[in-house]
Amino acid sequence: MVKHPKPLVEIAGTGRYLPERVLTNEDLEKMVETSDQWIRDRTGIRERRIARDDEGAADMAERAARAAMAKAGVEPGEIDILILATATPDRWLPSTACDLQALLGAGNAMAFDLAAACSGWLYGLTMAEGYLVAGRGEIALVVGTEKMSSIVNWEDRATCILFGDGAGAAVLRRATGERGILSSHHKSDGTLGNLLYRPAGGAVIPMSPEVLEKRDHLMKMSGREVFKNAVRSMADAADQALQQAGLTGDDIDLLIPHQANMRIINATAKYTGIPMEKVYVNVDRYGNMSSAAIPVALDEAQEEGLVGPGSLILLVAFGAGFTWSGMTIRL
Ligand code: ACO
Repeated sequence: MVKHPKPLVEIAGTGRYLPERVLTNEDLEKMVETSDQWIRDRTGIRERRIARDDEGAADMAERAARAAMAKAGVEPGEIDILILATATPDRWLPSTACDLQALLGAGNAMAFDLAAACSGWLYGLTMAEGYLVAGRGEIALVVGTEKMSSIVNWEDRATCILFGDGAGAAVLRRATGERGILSSHHKSDGTLGNLLYRPAGGAVIPMSPEVLEKRDHLMKMSGREVFKNAVRSMADAADQALQQAGLTGDDIDLLIPHQANMRIINATAKYTGIPMEKVYVNVDRYGNMSSAAIPVALDEAQEEGLVGPGSLILLVAFGAGFTWSGMTIRL
């Protein structure tokens, strides 16, 4: 068992931003050969949000971050560390985290991007936790922000139905009491990277007319393999996080799984023995927002009064890499 660091690190405020534009399954029926029925049966998704052309990951992150800071009562200048998890940075250089820092005026922070796909926000919480527990700073801002619509191949019906855009954020600080992150488990398996990836557009195969023509800069996915690994890894992550905290599924007030697909969510709930009434679901409204999915769900769940101060939550993620994470938090 991994001994958890003391003092605990708590979530002082959360925020979210969802772009206004809604893309429904009916809209997708006009774009690719698919049907609302097929998409709902296989994924549970009804609609997703799509960012404006001029709206990037940093812009969405700013909206989510400002909401989180307002709830936490924290000013931009107080942030010591700003971690931005994304698979869709606005540009390769500089980091989107630095762009966000400039937008916020968080001039006292160190800022960097974190690339762990859908698990990125949970990875980021643990990085921030370590920094704060080590006494390197007082306040952390961890954001998950994704413009998935910019890397989706809108002609590939197997992937374009799955994803949406959005951002979620949390402000973290050292706790004085018993509230905070109780346990966390993170893993990666780089040998399975090519099951969900973008073949080109990086340093090895840079962007070229040929890459654009073949759409090799866009996301490719082996759906069935991803599905199997997601179910297995999310079960492992949930197990490890619960065990580390000395908890069982019965103790959990709310499970917030990564919102990729209703069938993966159902399987994770079943494995942990947590009834569906205690599982947060918004994949029907937003699709898969990668690193933004869990912070958006956490913010909504609090706003809806499903959880509040003292509630025990279990967060579980899985994403490209592969990467996976489990975490328990007393809010
Ligand atoms: N509409 C209609 N038919 C479709 C569509 C569509 N949008 N997409 C695929 N099909 C067809 C296929 O062409 C195939 O037809 P065929 O039998 O004639 O060849 C048939 O449906 C079955 O295709 P599969 O890919 O085997 O369908 P599956 O049941 O595996 O469902 C899905 C596909 C929904 C993508 C599933 O594999 C899945 O959810 N995988 C996980 C993917 C995921 O969540 N990735 C996100 C990133 S990782 C993460 O966040 C967890």
